[in-house]
Amino acid sequence: ARAAVVIPAAGRGVRLGPGAPKALRTLGGTPMLIHAVRAMAASRHVSLVVLVAPPDGVAEVRSLLDSHSLPERTDFLVVPGGATRQESVRLGLEALPAGSEVVLVHDAARPLVPVETVDAVIEAVRAGAGAVVPALPLADTVKEVEPAEAAGAPEPVVATPVRARLRAVQTPQGFDRAVLTRAHQEVEGEVTDDASMVERLGLGVVTVPGHEEAFKVTRPLDLVLAEAVLARRRR
Ligand code: CTP
Ligand code: MG
Repeated sequence: ARAAVVIPAAGRGVRLGPGAPKALRTLGGTPMLIHAVRAMAASRHVSLVVLVAPPDGVAEVRSLLDSHSLPERTDFLVVPGGATRQESVRLGLEALPAGSEVVLVHDAARPLVPVETVDAVIEAVRAGAGAVVPALPLADTVKEVEPAEAAGAPEPVVATPVRARLRAVQTPQGFDRAVLTRAHQEVEGEVTDDASMVERLGLGVVTVPGHEEAFKVTRPLDLVLAEAVLARRRR
């Protein structure tokens, strides 16, 4: 089975500071979402990419896809997104035609993920996993705190999970389509990734090795890193 990818790209990018919606901002002169699309279409297993655009940016995203070179073996759809990432992913899933049994969800905000990571995720789903996440060990020790109301106020530390057991997870996350569809139909409440919705159904999620270059562009310093990674690739 070939894979379909949903790319949620409908966020504003508040943490990046004022400017265009994050996915439309450029890296090395090319919009972030075009980098993300190319990263997915680089896999010969990917036959369809559904881009979930800012609700007021569907036409702009369509014209960006038309004006950039993309592999011909891959089809593209653009749909309007929602108010939360979760809602945007659900709208992307609803646009999938029958036939794609392996579905990936990939943040437009991770424009530089290498194709090896994409293929590793697809392979693991094909091998029978219902849900797969690329994951990396942490560099920082992580504390659980009692969050303070005021930003910047001291927060009491509650616990320190054993770092060696923790993983930072990335995208693309890969799923058996039926599993992901059910998760988006049945799981309520705030989540920060798709795999956690599958966990809430009581179903298994496994990791494959993630990649440093699959980091998420979230804050201004991440743009500096992304530009440096691109410059290194072009050398
Ligand atoms: N996303 C989306 N629809 C939303 C919110 C987020 O499709 N309503 C997408 C973003 O475009 C991004 C991915 O989800 O590709 C991961 O979200 P995040 O990094 O948080 O991006 P933003 O929500 O845009 O950033 P911020 O939280 O700083 O506003
Ligand atoms: Mg966000």
